[in-house]
Amino acid sequence: MKALILSGGRGTRLKPLTNTIAKQLLPVANKPILHYVMEQVAETGIKDIGVIISPETGDKIKEALGDGDRWNTHITFITQPQPLGLAHAVKTARDFLGDSPFLMFLGDNLIQGGIADFVAEFEKHRPSALVLLKEVPDPRLFGVAELDGSGKVVRLVEKPKEPRSNLALVGIYLFSSEIHQAIEQISPSWRGELEITDAIQRLLDDGKTIHTHILKGWWLDTGKKDDLLEANRVVLDDLLRRDIKGEVDEHSQVIGRVNVGEGTRVENSTIRGPVAIAHSCLIKDSYIGPFTSIGAGTTIENSSIEHSVILEGCSVCHIERLADSIIGRSARVLKQGRGFKAVKLFIGDDTEIVL
Ligand code: G1P
Repeated sequence: MKALILSGGRGTRLKPLTNTIAKQLLPVANKPILHYVMEQVAETGIKDIGVIISPETGDKIKEALGDGDRWNTHITFITQPQPLGLAHAVKTARDFLGDSPFLMFLGDNLIQGGIADFVAEFEKHRPSALVLLKEVPDPRLFGVAELDGSGKVVRLVEKPKEPRSNLALVGIYLFSSEIHQAIEQISPSWRGELEITDAIQRLLDDGKTIHTHILKGWWLDTGKKDDLLEANRVVLDDLLRRDIKGEVDEHSQVIGRVNVGEGTRVENSTIRGPVAIAHSCLIKDSYIGPFTSIGAGTTIENSSIEHSVILEGCSVCHIERLADSIIGRSARVLKQGRGFKAVKLFIGDDTEIVL
């Protein structure tokens, strides 16, 4: 059994953050999403992992994963020259995959409890494919599965305008080598991509067995702004343990499940978990509220923040209340003296400011 992790794409739905960071490297609770993915794949016992990368962000992904040793795995990097679809990515990885069955995992997806049980189920029954499904409020944004009365999948449609069910295809799939032949038979969709959904439909049309599993736990698909905040909230809520390595002075209060990284100083502040603060930060005269992650080397002074993701090297000073926000690397958010009413901005492309 092999694994194929997809870490290419342009991340257009997460601009401007993805102008400089690959979407799979955006942090959730201060750790790149892709590292959680590696942990979940390694947990299944699969050692041989192919990682699809793009020419634009491939080097950063390589840097973040190394040779896979850290997870006791071996990684082969495979460049997909253009983002022409998930099925195209599989095609690109044909030499690496050979005729082995494989787990395919989108590098910006994550599910509660990991995937080891699904891999075991697949290996036991050996269907042509096993797909994971999850009920979603707006299925039009996903691949959608239609099941019959007995729970068997009868149809799969990519981003239907009029969905026949609310079951979305989660970006985690298990395939036998039959998928390669199915991919050979499909053509690009309206968005110009070779859709893996169409290839699975092809397997169905050929009378092959597709197993499904409807997820009950959380599924994170961190492709858009609100999803990144939601992923941060869910992971902090579910996985964070209290761990204080930095210094907290006697005028501060740290309540509940909070991480304070090495070399970070908390002065005259209140931190109410779940909160993750990375290393080398300064938190002074501030309140950091639940579901906030703060990247390394960031300074927060005389401010109040909650339900936000602040990346590395930022400063946030004299901000009365910052909430539901994502702040990119090395950004500065400041308030000038009292009485100064004008808003003064120096912001990058594709930025959104809500005042
Ligand atoms: C892709 C798949 C879609 C699936 C989704 C899960 O969509 O094409 O079927 O539901 O991933 O994240 P995309 O992210 O390419 O829009």
